[in-house]
Amino acid sequence: MSWGLQNRLARIIKPATGRTVMLAVDHGYFLGPTSGLECPDATCTPLAPFADTLMLTRGVLRNCISPALDVPIVLRVSGGNSVLEEDLSNETIITSIEECIRMNAAGMALSIFVGAPHQHQTIANLGRLVDEGERYGIPVLAVTAVGKDMVRDSRYLSLASRIAAEMGAHVVKTYYCDDFEKVVGTCPVPIVIAGGKKISEREALELAYNGVNSGAVGVDMGRNIFQSDSPLGMIKAVRAVVHENASVDDAFAIYESEKVAGGAALGAGGGLADDAKA
Ligand code: 5RP
Repeated sequence: MSWGLQNRLARIIKPATGRTVMLAVDHGYFLGPTSGLECPDATCTPLAPFADTLMLTRGVLRNCISPALDVPIVLRVSGGNSVLEEDLSNETIITSIEECIRMNAAGMALSIFVGAPHQHQTIANLGRLVDEGERYGIPVLAVTAVGKDMVRDSRYLSLASRIAAEMGAHVVKTYYCDDFEKVVGTCPVPIVIAGGKKISEREALELAYNGVNSGAVGVDMGRNIFQSDSPLGMIKAVRAVVHENASVDDAFAIYESEKVAGGAALGAGGGLADDAKA
C-alpha cells in the first residue's frame, strides 16, 4: 500500500480510535431528491464538523459543498441507474479517477451487487477501480448488498463482503445482521455498517453500538442521521458510540439533549421512494 493510499485511509478511519463516522449523503445518485437531502448544503454544512467523511457524488460536491469545508470526501463513483428501474444493479463507473484527484477525494465508493443480474459487471467495475486507486493512491470503499430484494443474513453478507475484499477493496460497507462477527471475521479489510432506512433514534444507536461491538470500524450512515428530528443530536450520539464506546443509553441522552437545545430537523420530506434501496 503506497504512502498516499495509507494517508488517505487514515483520513477516513481515524488513527486515534481506529474508527470512523462517515456521513452518507449520496442517495440522490439514483433516488433523486431524497427526504432530508433536498438542499444538500443545508443538510451537510452543520453536520460536517461532526463527520469524519462525507460520502457523496461529484455533482453535489461541486455545486453544494463549500471547498472550504474541512472534511475528507469519499466520492461515489458508481451509478448509471435510477429508482424507476426494477433492476438497480446495472451500474458502471461514472466518475473518472482524474476527477477524483481533482476533487481531492480521500476515497472512492462503488457498489457491487452480488447475486443480482449485473453481478459480474459490478464486481468487474470494482476490480478496475481498485487498479486505478492503487495507481494513484486512493482507497476504494466497496458498498455491498444494496437492493430491496437481498436477504441480508450473515451468509449472504459474508459472501458479498469477502468478494469485495478479494477484489482489492480497502474498506467494505455492508449491513449489520445477526451473527455479524462472522461477516467481520471472514473479511480481511475493515467494515463499516450502513444505516439503512429510517428507524427510531434509539434503534439506530443500537445498530451502531452492535456494529462496532461486533468488530465494525464504524458507520457510513445517512438517513438515520439526516432524517432524524435532530440530525445534529444523532450525529453527536453516533460519534459517542463509535469513537468513545458510549452505551446506547448515554448516546441517546446526547441525542435528546441536543434535540432539546434546538437541533432542528433538516429535511421536510417529499423525496422519491426513500426506502427503495433499504
Ligand atoms: C447507497 C449507499 C448509501 O450511502 C447508504 O445506503 C447509506 O445510507 P443509509 O444509512 O441511508 O442507508 O451507499 O448505495
